Amino acid sequence: MSKDTSRPEGRPVALVTGASRGLGFLLARELAVRGHDLVLCARSAAGLDAARADLERHGIEVLGVPADIGMTAEAGRVVDAALTRFGRLDVLVCNAGLIQVGPAAAMRPNDYAQAMDVMFWGLVHPVLAALPALRRTGGRILAVTSVGGKLPAPHLLPYCAAKHAAVGFAEGLRVEVAREGVSVTVGVPGLMRTGSPRNAMFTGDRDAEYRWFATADSLPLLSMNAERAARKLVDATLRGRPEVVLTPAAKLGMRLHGLAPATTLRVLTGVNRLLPATVNPGPSPGHRTSPPPRWFTILTRLSRTAARRWHQFDDETQLRSRGAA
Ligand SMILES: NC(=O)c1ccc[n+]([C@@H]2O[C@H](COP(=O)([O-])OP(=O)(O)OC[C@H]3O[C@@H](n4cnc5c(N)ncnc54)[C@H](OP(=O)(O)O)[C@@H]3O)[C@@H](O)[C@H]2O)c1
Repeated sequence: MSKDTSRPEGRPVALVTGASRGLGFLLARELAVRGHDLVLCARSAAGLDAARADLERHGIEVLGVPADIGMTAEAGRVVDAALTRFGRLDVLVCNAGLIQVGPAAAMRPNDYAQAMDVMFWGLVHPVLAALPALRRTGGRILAVTSVGGKLPAPHLLPYCAAKHAAVGFAEGLRVEVAREGVSVTVGVPGLMRTGSPRNAMFTGDRDAEYRWFATADSLPLLSMNAERAARKLVDATLRGRPEVVLTPAAKLGMRLHGLAPATTLRVLTGVNRLLPATVNPGPSPGHRTSPPPRWFTILTRLSRTAARRWHQFDDETQLRSRGAA
């Protein structure tokens, strides 16, 4: 890959992980609108191609690099590809994520390892690889974590554990790299309508878990429009803000947990009792299998619209192989 000398000098460059669909795609689009050339990363080459074609309409240059960002060498390869193509890096957005939904009793050690690989190591590896380049430009890092990284959302234990680790790393990183001219923003979204239930993994009673999760993800009072979320996250990142918390429910939950942690733990223990019971031994996390009832189809209309708009359906081959297409 040779360095492209035709691009306008000085145009900033952003690298976004998990950019093939959902929030990552929208964060990339927001950065494109603000004049950044883009490097997109995800595992699926087909997903990246569709996102790239969409983003190039904004008149910027886009490079797609298929990689598993949780692996040291792969993360290094993505950063190297960005520097080879564009010669600089100004913004690193660590957004790649994996949601496994189900009771703790149905989760296996491998589910925790997978969550940590994508959402903790998938943050640490690209940050360590990109820091030298970000020091040269006084760069910005956005760590997309979750309210699940601040308090324990039930039936999401591997996710919450990995997000807590990500919050710890991102907050500590912010404190240490500020003196080197690099700013770190910890993004803490609550539920957003990214269309992600389509690609999320469910265990225990898969159909029941899928239904509660997709319904919550689609309700306007609980979940946020994903385009608005991306705008707010990019604003905060480019301004160098330390933290941005999205959705009123997430803000309220975090305040309560900070003031009275024992009370929030009791409330969430009660919420857990309302969620589907454990199926023993239960399948490993995968996709729902049976067609949903009509009430569910009506309640989740917003989530399905988001899925269609934000590229959740692009990688049909992958979806079919998981039995979800
Ligand atoms: N949706 C919500 O309500 C919500 C709430 C709070 C926080 N968040 C966080 O926001 C982020 C984006 O969520 P989303 O809803 O947009 O999820 P999504 O639609 O499932 O998108 C996840 C993205 O990450 C990529 N990815 C997954 N594993 C990867 C790996 N090992 N290496 C590289 N890329 C990988 C996926 O592409 P491939 O599968 O092709 O790799 C995809 O592009 C996640 O970190 C999530 O935890 C979401």
